[in-house]
Amino acid sequence: MYYSDDILDQVRSANDIVDVIGQDVKLKRAGSSYVGLCPFHNEKTPSFSVSRQKQMYYCFGCHRGGNVITYIEEYNNMGFLEAVQYLAERAGITLPQSSISPEEKKSMSERTQLLEVNRLAGTYYYYSLRSAAGKSGMEYLRSRGLTDETMKAFALGYAPKTPSDGLYRYMKSKGVSDDLLRRSGLMNVDLKRGTMYDKFWNRVIFPILDTSNKIIGFGGRVMGDAKPKYLNSPETKIFDKSRNLYALNLARRTREDYLILCEGYMDVISMHQAGFTNAVASLGTSLTPGHCALLARYTKKVVLSYDSDSAGVAAAMRAIPMLRRAQITPRILRLDPYKDPDEMIQALGHDAVKERLEKAQNALMFEIEITKRDYDLSDPEAKTRFFESVAARIAALETEMERQNYIDAVCREYLVDRKQLQELVTRRLVAGPASHSGDAYESGHGATSGEEEPSLDPAYDPAALYGYDEGGFYEDEATGEMYQAPPSASRKNRAATVREQGDDISRKLLLNYICRYPSVFETVKKYVQPADFGGGLLTRAAEEIYAQMERFGRVEEASVLSHFTETQDQAQIAGIFHTLDQAASGKDREKAVRETLLKVFTASDAGSRTDLQQMIQRKKLETELRSVKLNL
Ligand code: UTP
Ligand code: MN
Repeated sequence: MYYSDDILDQVRSANDIVDVIGQDVKLKRAGSSYVGLCPFHNEKTPSFSVSRQKQMYYCFGCHRGGNVITYIEEYNNMGFLEAVQYLAERAGITLPQSSISPEEKKSMSERTQLLEVNRLAGTYYYYSLRSAAGKSGMEYLRSRGLTDETMKAFALGYAPKTPSDGLYRYMKSKGVSDDLLRRSGLMNVDLKRGTMYDKFWNRVIFPILDTSNKIIGFGGRVMGDAKPKYLNSPETKIFDKSRNLYALNLARRTREDYLILCEGYMDVISMHQAGFTNAVASLGTSLTPGHCALLARYTKKVVLSYDSDSAGVAAAMRAIPMLRRAQITPRILRLDPYKDPDEMIQALGHDAVKERLEKAQNALMFEIEITKRDYDLSDPEAKTRFFESVAARIAALETEMERQNYIDAVCREYLVDRKQLQELVTRRLVAGPASHSGDAYESGHGATSGEEEPSLDPAYDPAALYGYDEGGFYEDEATGEMYQAPPSASRKNRAATVREQGDDISRKLLLNYICRYPSVFETVKKYVQPADFGGGLLTRAAEEIYAQMERFGRVEEASVLSHFTETQDQAQIAGIFHTLDQAASGKDREKAVRETLLKVFTASDAGSRTDLQQMIQRKKLETELRSVKLNL
């Protein structure tokens, strides 16, 4: 731990969790807390709760949870230290420098170091573009119609022609080690000679920022027709191309309710310059489920603005089902006769593009139009097969109203008889979902990832441990807070019951009861000690809860979390504070708490005691416990 508890508490309490999360997630009041759509998994109905009282968030669907620091770590993909610094800055708190010792500094995450190297490189390129050495870069960008203001907003830069090792030398002057430079992806390494030279040379530079405005990589474009046209930073510890989108740091602030997804850097920049500040692009890679999950955090609507060539159309056909799986409704922007959005903007200007955006084509109609190319409609048999595939797509829609609307639209567009198409659709529907799911949305477009929910971080996925719930939770009448019921041993076939031992369920409940009903603590501690909580994570949580009870007579849930550095652990502890047996809240609560205490007490008796005297003593305590009065 790098910062003292006092400082962490100060940073936490200066950043109200509802305000912080409310900036990213639309929250609605529910009881005394707030609920919204979980930013960590895709869902249609909200199961993500944020409690001002507890200063915690918890998703009853995917079981991620924690305090405001955990949230920043998870949402912004930051390390603990970085998240604390971010929140301190947000609240205007100056962190004591001395709290980071030199050793700690050294062990600071590789991520932080790489970000610093990129920041330095960004500065170097930025000033090079604006210096005498950057004249040709500046001329090039101006020739592409970019204003100084736009260049600044995107922090565009230039990697000079001379000296060809300018960045390397600059980094050396800043004391950056060769090793770190090698890992930054900014250098090419000559293995034979063991030397390094600048990767980007004589190119205009497009820094790539993540949503917290940190430079995670660069793209560089040649200023003529040489190949490759664009060079990009390789993937590094901090640059994961499949989980970042160019300009999302800017576009996330849009007031529009949709995002525009383009293919290229220049497309995005032109769009922004023309006032469409909701444009983003994937980074020289095709769209991934990771991108879609990221988009879904910000919007439910995306307008695809891929190039109009065959590669762009194919990419759009792949992107559509992927976006749908992330609960995003895609539409398609008409570019013709222009090659890409940049060209269209230069040719048509803002108003005409705005109009095209408003008229963006429905994705299903686009798919139908594109599939049509595969059929020779002058051949009656091919024509029938085409309309069968259309019917399959329509039948796959969820509601009857949607199906009717599309039948209308297709009939209008393709001049087919309404009755005939309706009949094909009905036949599909009667045949059942199994027969059409295969060739409707997914068919032939190389969809690979199946039905699985795109998760933001597969390496850490509490839902994989616990299984996704339907987000079952209820409002506790006494406090107005949201809770989930403890997993019951009788619910079979649930990952949660398999993983979670009955003993642990009781232990977790008891910990929550102590926090909820501090008056029971005096009695509880006579019978069970932190060591009786299984020895692992729960024991560590118990130690902290017991310590807080002894010192303050009450527990501050969010500060218990600060004692755990791993977000997995924090999610588990957050789960404790969000699990409540409904009985323990009603009039039988004394009985419910007593039974839980009894279970924890007996569970820790696991046959290890051989001393007869001790066994008799335990038996006596147990009998006493069965009728003990709890001051509830
Ligand atoms: P395009 O070839 O469509 O380029 O590539 P563009 O965006 O229209 O760029 P200009 O207008 O010619 O300057 C689309 C995107 O694919 C990636 C880049 O991200 C580019 O913006 N790309 C393209 C590369 O990464 N490398 C390349 O060699 C070409
Ligand atoms: Mn272009």
